[in-house]
Amino acid sequence: MRRRTLGNTGIELPELVLGTWGLSGDGYGQVDEADQEQVITRALGLGIDAFDTADAYAKGKMEERLGRLLAEREGAVVITKIGTDRAATPPIKRFDAEYLREAALASKARLGRRIDVLLLHNPSTLALDKPHVAQTMKDLCEEGVARAWGVSIGDAAIGTRAMEQGAQVLELAYNAFHPQDLAGVVTLAKEKQVGLIGRSALAHGLLCGQWPSTKQFPQGDHRRDRWTLDDFKKRISQLSALRPSVRGDVTSLRAAALRFALSEPALSAVVIGPRSAVQLDQLLREAGKEPPYLEEDARTALKHRLVNVGILP
Ligand SMILES: NC(=O)c1ccc[n+]([C@@H]2O[C@H](COP(=O)([O-])OP(=O)(O)OC[C@H]3O[C@@H](n4cnc5c(N)ncnc54)[C@H](OP(=O)(O)O)[C@@H]3O)[C@@H](O)[C@H]2O)c1
Repeated sequence: MRRRTLGNTGIELPELVLGTWGLSGDGYGQVDEADQEQVITRALGLGIDAFDTADAYAKGKMEERLGRLLAEREGAVVITKIGTDRAATPPIKRFDAEYLREAALASKARLGRRIDVLLLHNPSTLALDKPHVAQTMKDLCEEGVARAWGVSIGDAAIGTRAMEQGAQVLELAYNAFHPQDLAGVVTLAKEKQVGLIGRSALAHGLLCGQWPSTKQFPQGDHRRDRWTLDDFKKRISQLSALRPSVRGDVTSLRAAALRFALSEPALSAVVIGPRSAVQLDQLLREAGKEPPYLEEDARTALKHRLVNVGILP
């Protein structure tokens, strides 16, 4: 597994990081514990020794699981996120200093190790504007609770604010249908040497191109409410822009989507979200082993087609 440097943090990440939201059962529906563990241990065996998680995933159980499975793995990297108080009903966002400190220490205890990258989990710009937020994260790094801090962002404006407050890392959605957040932060990130981590490379599975436009998602699957019926149909039809990218060693839409993210040089890593060992193996097999994951001319042609279907301006 090739590695890239994460901004100025001194941390090196494998190009693919294992995300654990889908595995946790939150978001997409239940995954058996044995299957969760199989995916994590298989990822380690394949050279993926970095994991993206959050204290909120399975109410802390995913951090506990990672802590146990990584106990003997010197050098494994854990990225986790805080800022969702799931003790409250319904869960609320909390970014006050006392809560952040308590949450970070609880994550560290569950993981049984120093946190490598501690992220604020989807804060608003309003939350980031409170000076105690960045200060608390910096203090936690100085105290050795975490090596680096950053923000998992919902849009480029939040990313910009985070970098102005000193965030060392941004995690953001990045895929062929959602390139705008990266475009909005990349210049300042380069200037400040902020590490960028891409997630949702498959647009939650949409870019695999395996769904009919009538697809229905079960209760408990976040995709049930993510798209309106019309928007969903439009998105499925826009996959026509991605289809011509399937050629040569790019053997599927899934491969094209993953390689689109991997071929973005501004990203230090792409967080993948397989929910089974079979999905993990497919992704690894199809990702390709080295740059260019998607040839420059193929990338340029894809961008033109994304303009034609109305995704890019
Ligand atoms: N705010 C945040 O901080 C935030 C938000 C989102 C994600 N994340 C992180 O990023 C990770 C990935 O995010 P994501 O879930 O949005 O990723 P994604 O890769 O865009 O979507 C994951 C979904 O893609 C489908 N998939 C994966 N591998 C497949 C394969 N080989 N063949 C067919 N379908 C496949 C699965 O759908 P099915 O379930 O239908 O099989 C899976 O649930 C998460 O686990 C989490 O760690 C963080």
